[in-house]
Amino acid sequence: MRTRPLKVALLGCGVVGSEVARIMTTHADDLAARIGAPVELAGVAVRRPGRVRAGIDPALVTTDATALVKRGDIDVVVEVIGGIEPARRLITTAFEHGASVVSANKALLAEDGPALHQAAEAHGADLYYEAAVAGAIPLVRPLRESLVGDKVNRVLGIVNGTTNFILDRMDTSGAGYAEALDEATALGYAEADPTADVEGFDAAAKAAILAGIAFHTRVSLDQVHREGITEVTAADIRSARRMGCTVKLLAICERAQDGNSVTARVHPAMIPLSHPLASVREAYNAVFVEAEAAGRLMFYGPGAGGSPTASAVLGDLVAACRNKLSGARGPGESAYTQLPVSPTGKAVTRYHISLDVSDKPGVLAQCAMVFAEHGVSIDTVRQQGKAAPENAVPSGAEGTVGTAAASDGEASLVVVTHRATDAALSATVEALRKLDTVRGVASTMRVEGE
Ligand code: HSE
Repeated sequence: MRTRPLKVALLGCGVVGSEVARIMTTHADDLAARIGAPVELAGVAVRRPGRVRAGIDPALVTTDATALVKRGDIDVVVEVIGGIEPARRLITTAFEHGASVVSANKALLAEDGPALHQAAEAHGADLYYEAAVAGAIPLVRPLRESLVGDKVNRVLGIVNGTTNFILDRMDTSGAGYAEALDEATALGYAEADPTADVEGFDAAAKAAILAGIAFHTRVSLDQVHREGITEVTAADIRSARRMGCTVKLLAICERAQDGNSVTARVHPAMIPLSHPLASVREAYNAVFVEAEAAGRLMFYGPGAGGSPTASAVLGDLVAACRNKLSGARGPGESAYTQLPVSPTGKAVTRYHISLDVSDKPGVLAQCAMVFAEHGVSIDTVRQQGKAAPENAVPSGAEGTVGTAAASDGEASLVVVTHRATDAALSATVEALRKLDTVRGVASTMRVEGE
């Protein structure tokens, strides 16, 4: 084993960074044996130097991250600061000074991945980012390396733990969105400003990264269709239950049937309780990968948190260190297919549509005609009078038209469609809104996973 240590600079020492430093110290001998040389923490860049950081030599702590990455003797820079700047500038500078980079920064990878890969390539360095997607779950490496000989057609998963926790609570306790969000905040799952999670930005960044790797093409964040969970209601969850489904925020990256384009989207969707993703509870993540030869693979585990994310960072650190020692390079960007990214309207899906309609003769036929005119086939219809209690609806009414009386002349009509393009389905909903007899579209939700 080489005795001269490989030097690591750590940028950021929060929940993840401090755990990376701890594992580097406590597992130093094992890491050295696995790499073939000792690894030494050469510097830790932080914003608040006064804070006590257990297990970290205060002499290593600096507020000058730029000087740290410019030292010239750093082998690997670990970036766990997050955000776009100064992370982007620091990573680029690290490459210019001969270091490889391990990053957990999904926002930066989704926004500027190609430029970062090019910078790594130009300087003969590695860029690893397993921790950017789904925490501890090995997903980036399996897609970049294990499945690189196969043809991936679809990646479907739960990649945001906060929203999965909220939806799970709504499902199990009947709570509304606001109440479930409050609980997620109190338990530390949701941040004080939960926008990135609940509006789907975090999941969309992960979808862009996964789609790019899976399909060997470039998918930018603005090409990912994004809807969050803030509009999901307790009524949606109850409706899903009546269909034998639950609601999850899904990231879906698909190759088109003809293979000539891809789509990437993030939105809440109903999935059958029998689908393995339905049993992903609390803040866990899980991702299905469908590949031509491998078939269906499922990756499951903790998608966030200090230790799980640090596990992914350490795996990348070992890989980058091994490459440094042997003079090899890890995989670079693979975007050779240059497949166009289609708008989500081209995606094929099913819709669950809940309408408030006038309860009078011909309304159901009128609505059905709108579906027909848009080439959308109806799978099931359920109607219930608004004034009637829910338990007045005949049980097992799925696929039938209920006849509960409506005393106020209004009824709720729930239609589930067969598969059609998202564009045809959303045009159908727009046309339904314009009918005089449709008083409102209470909700629309896609149905996936069948
Ligand atoms: N906030 C994310 C989540 C973890 O809730 O899954 C980091 O991506």
